[in-house]
Amino acid sequence: MDRMEVTETFAGMSLPGHLHTAESLRFASSFEFRDTDVVIATYPKSGTTWMQEILTLLYSQGNLLPAKTIPNWFRAPWLEHIYFKDTLQETSERRLITTHLPCHVLAPGLKKAKAKVIYIARNPKDVVVSFYHFHKFAKFLPDPGSFNDFLMRFLDGTVQYGSWFDHVKGWLSHQEELELFYITYEDLHQDLGRSVQRLAAWLGCPLPPEVLRAIEQHCSFSSMRENVMVNYTLIPSEIMDHSQGQFMRKGTVGDWRDHFTPMQTMLFHRLYQEEMQGTSLHFPWAM
Ligand code: A3P
Repeated sequence: MDRMEVTETFAGMSLPGHLHTAESLRFASSFEFRDTDVVIATYPKSGTTWMQEILTLLYSQGNLLPAKTIPNWFRAPWLEHIYFKDTLQETSERRLITTHLPCHVLAPGLKKAKAKVIYIARNPKDVVVSFYHFHKFAKFLPDPGSFNDFLMRFLDGTVQYGSWFDHVKGWLSHQEELELFYITYEDLHQDLGRSVQRLAAWLGCPLPPEVLRAIEQHCSFSSMRENVMVNYTLIPSEIMDHSQGQFMRKGTVGDWRDHFTPMQTMLFHRLYQEEMQGTSLHFPWAM
């Protein structure tokens, strides 16, 4: 497959046309949520797959079978990908749903149904590094060029899914009106057990010690890197060229320090301050 050139503009984001057709985006924006739905909402590269795995184990009560036999994209399908339309509509079981779409597209439907949303944010400097490496092997995305080129596009908000700032501000400004649980990649990284306990309490999902142990073991970076149901090695090389990179790349906090020059850091911080001033959002790790 050639590198993706054709894009569609939807809600201010540029999206690969062959993945996110007009039909799939219409489907997502008019989706009928149920009050039993649990939606994982993220800007790309913020810990989406990690949360898909955690929730799989939470709801299976620590039984590893689903996580070891069903690819993550069937356990928690993408709302904006028409391929999953029937899977999403036909299931009568509790649905785990994944999306990178901005809040304003989904908020009316979410509010109507009182579906639960888990929003995960990650230090945007680590997000841009992870996204850059992802573009190098995800052949459905445009060539990222140099890191500097990609960073400038990220700061302009012209990468896939648009501005990180708009995404985070959009979702978190609806915190009061939605059933929304907010957590960061850094929280998960610092104390997975504590984070999962908080999440389980919020979901009203009992968490016996053996389930917590299973989640901590199975959702570690080293374990997920080896799990073919979640490390994307099942995806053919025409779509993800695994010789050019790995989905489970580093799984660390602060990798940006090995990528950003002092000038890039300064530019980033200036924009960060401009974008976040006037909000009550506080990301201690972003500065
Ligand atoms: P890196 O590229 O920095 O390694 P997403 O699922 O939203 O696309 O995010 C992918 C990022 O989450 C990648 O970051 C990946 O390595 C990281 N990740 C996935 N599972 C993880 C885990 N169990 N522990 C730590 N990081 C994880």
